[in-house]
Amino acid sequence: MKNVKSKVAEIWTVGGGKGGTGKTFLTSQLAKYLALKKKQVILIDSDFGGANLRYFFNIKKQGKSIKDFFTNKEPLENLLSHTDMRNLKIITGDYNAISINSIKYSQKMKFLRHIKELDADYILIDLGGGLNFNTIDVFLLADKMIVITVPEITAIDNLFQFVKNAYFRKLNFLFKNYKLKDTAKDIWEHRKNYGIENIIDLTDYIKTKLDVDSSISREISEFSIFIVLNKLKNPNEINQGFSIKSLCIKYLGIPSIYAGYIGFDENFRKNLSLSDYIPKFNVSTRIQKEILEIAENIINKEQITISTIKNA
Ligand SMILES: Nc1ncnc2c1ncn2[C@@H]1O[C@H](COP(=O)(O)OP(=O)(O)O)[C@@H](O)[C@H]1O
Ligand SMILES: [Mg+2]
Repeated sequence: MKNVKSKVAEIWTVGGGKGGTGKTFLTSQLAKYLALKKKQVILIDSDFGGANLRYFFNIKKQGKSIKDFFTNKEPLENLLSHTDMRNLKIITGDYNAISINSIKYSQKMKFLRHIKELDADYILIDLGGGLNFNTIDVFLLADKMIVITVPEITAIDNLFQFVKNAYFRKLNFLFKNYKLKDTAKDIWEHRKNYGIENIIDLTDYIKTKLDVDSSISREISEFSIFIVLNKLKNPNEINQGFSIKSLCIKYLGIPSIYAGYIGFDENFRKNLSLSDYIPKFNVSTRIQKEILEIAENIINKEQITISTIKNA
């Protein structure tokens, strides 16, 4: 008989469009931090093209992985690998096994359902780069959606595209149940006819002009993201997080919380020991403090404080 689930896990997903911005690193560190706080944590590598989360946990041998869910119909709870922290378990990815485009709709829906059924306090999901709709659907599963970027225009542009795509996908998802499928997209494509210029106008239009259920309206209003900046080389770059936040509201109409930043750390390269091909991530105390701040801000839905910035 299936065990009775004792808790409803809070799901955090980390995405952001561009590769190499630190999604996998951040997800692994947030998971470690929550586990140190004595929470039961499950971490899932959902980067189908570039699964590498296990390297951040010194899991050298590929055991059962997400591949077994998709190809052998193994329940997710059978795929948990142990880490050196008792209350942190990980479902590893396997980039030789499945391509993100080959996942069928029914498989994806089952995957999303099964993630929610896992027994933990927190479930953290690491995503691949790009705008694939399967990636976005996993991103949207979260209670807390986190995006991470480096302070470079190409990465920030990728982040906007990612958030915009996620928002449209969410709208279509909500409308589907009310036979309004593709309504948001149709209105957007013919926006001139509706006097709509940007996504804020679109959201207002949907909320006020369409006869949408109040729960849809509430879900639209509650759509919000957490922003993290990574690999900062100069304290002046800290403020870019606030600029991204303003642009999210101005152009996308999407409220966001600037949860924190991580400085660039030269020691990362030293962490990579090529002899056994396993990076050993003993992060500096500075990075630990930055992760703590980010994690606590996400938990409490709070933004970084100005005093933090002054002390940086
Ligand atoms: N703050 C940082 N300082 C220096 N290097 C970093 C930092 N954060 C991540 N890295 C390095 O950048 C690379 C990409 O990080 P990763 O988390 O794998 O990105 P993603 O999952 O977004 O593709 C890795 O080699 C990682 O060790
Ligand atoms: Mg990654």
